[in-house]
Amino acid sequence: MTPAFDLQYSITTWIQESAQELPDFPENFDPVVRPADPRFGDFQANGVLPLAKQLKTNPRQLATALMEKIAAHPSLSEEHFDLTIAGPGFINIRLKPAFLTAWTSAFNDPDRLADGLDHLYRGKTVVMDFSGPNTAKQMHVGHIRSTVIGEAISRLLSFCGAKVVRDNHIGDWGTQFGILLLACKRFGFDFDQDPVTALPALEDLYRQGNQLVEEDPEAKSEARQELVLLQNGDEERLEIWKKINELSQGAFNDLYRRLGVSFDLTLGESHYRDQVAGVCEQLESLKIAEESDGALVVFHPEHPRFNEQPFIIRKSDGASNYATTDLATVAYRCEELGASEIIYVTDGRQQDHFEQLFLTVNKWFAASGKEAPALRHVWFGTILGEGGKAIKTRSGGSVKLRDLIDEGVERARLIVDEKNPDLPDEEKDSIAEAVGIGAIRYADLMQNRTHDYVFSWDKMLSFDGNTAPYLLYAAARIHAIFRKAGLQPGEGEEQGDALQTEEEILLARQLALFPAAVAQVTQDLRPHFLCTYLFELANAFSSFYNANRVMVDNPAEQGRRLMLCSRTLLFLKTGLHLLGIETLEKM
Ligand code: ARG
Repeated sequence: MTPAFDLQYSITTWIQESAQELPDFPENFDPVVRPADPRFGDFQANGVLPLAKQLKTNPRQLATALMEKIAAHPSLSEEHFDLTIAGPGFINIRLKPAFLTAWTSAFNDPDRLADGLDHLYRGKTVVMDFSGPNTAKQMHVGHIRSTVIGEAISRLLSFCGAKVVRDNHIGDWGTQFGILLLACKRFGFDFDQDPVTALPALEDLYRQGNQLVEEDPEAKSEARQELVLLQNGDEERLEIWKKINELSQGAFNDLYRRLGVSFDLTLGESHYRDQVAGVCEQLESLKIAEESDGALVVFHPEHPRFNEQPFIIRKSDGASNYATTDLATVAYRCEELGASEIIYVTDGRQQDHFEQLFLTVNKWFAASGKEAPALRHVWFGTILGEGGKAIKTRSGGSVKLRDLIDEGVERARLIVDEKNPDLPDEEKDSIAEAVGIGAIRYADLMQNRTHDYVFSWDKMLSFDGNTAPYLLYAAARIHAIFRKAGLQPGEGEEQGDALQTEEEILLARQLALFPAAVAQVTQDLRPHFLCTYLFELANAFSSFYNANRVMVDNPAEQGRRLMLCSRTLLFLKTGLHLLGIETLEKM
């Protein structure tokens, strides 16, 4: 029989089943099983303590009663697990070496890893709203976090069984188009260019237009007129608007390709332009929205701030806004995409917006007799420069994402040249692209997303510490072990026997914690937990490899060590792939 992949989950279920045989334990008893300090065991169950407190009984006694039942549970047999009571009533669970060996041997292909985790998100349709740049502008450093965090969460949730729909909610219907249309008319613009280089030119055009509008009141009203014409569906304006968006999209796509990011849909704000008026009407007739100083707003009396600071859904000049569009978008995603959950990945400065949006959606759906989807705002902090302030170029402008990526790749190329001077140029280039982009991405993902962090090339490109180069190097080193042995990863492990040495056991234990790490990420949608896990896995591999020779005369010993090598590679590769980073065979 194949062991269960997600041990934390299975042990939880088994303890719950055991607890059901005791009258003191409620049906929804949560044993709170977590990975433990290795000195005490592999997992620890702490849930007896709060229950004992609630029942006002002795926790140790309660734990002892539970232990008796656990000992009789067929899946928690003594053959596989060592169970002990510790402290005031913790239950420590240690996996026996034979069980660890069977577990690590069994999970030898990525599909089986995913199958073992699909209990986490099976049956859910999740719309992922991330990246969302505004058109006619280049993506800047502020977009990297949304893009890489959103991509990682999308991959993780679909790995855990969700149906994920990635929707890029681009800002393609903003007031910037008034000025752009005016500037196109006055100065002209050649749209037949490579989008990657044309987008900066379009930004210059906007700047020119903006200057014009600031200097000349007549130009200002003309720009406003252009915007009104566009919004009223004037063919000629729509044509230019479309070209601007296509060009922007071309430039975005180039970055998405380099970052390994993809979307199922790019509907954007303009997609909802005919629906926003209806949303306002509905909310008004449901008495959720009201007029205030000529604007249409939603107050939330139960909220300490939004009781007085309302959610504005139509401005006093009659124009709808970001909020109205987001309301229409929720309705569309539920009705047309079947969303059971919507996850928004943006900067922390939009926390109020999303809190108000979610409150409003819940009231709106309840009043219409519909079930609201689960709504989550996955927000993140700022990337800081060396001086501790938001990162800027030397001239004070925003750092363009393309320049950042190019610089990362260039720097990585210098490192590859130094470490591997004999590789053919083409291979060096592709390693540099992977290492440079992987380093930037990983440096972002390894931070707790709600923290600000200081951007540092030296740190992220270092081969020591919790970095992409360190992890990629660990994977490449395992490839080299197999290459030298004339084997493919996965080969040569059949004759292996049970794991024995301390380092073997510690490495296998770390492998067995993979599902718990993924589960932890999905709870709070914080990818850094997976980074920490992978770093610890690479460390455990390093200790193992330094202390235990892999290619030895004894086929049983060699077999089990090759098995550990191949499994470490598979878990590293799978984990890094979930973060958006592809491993290399050589570097
Ligand atoms: N375009 C927005 C920005 O640049 C991000 C969009 C986020 N998604 C949303 N549905 N509001 O800030």
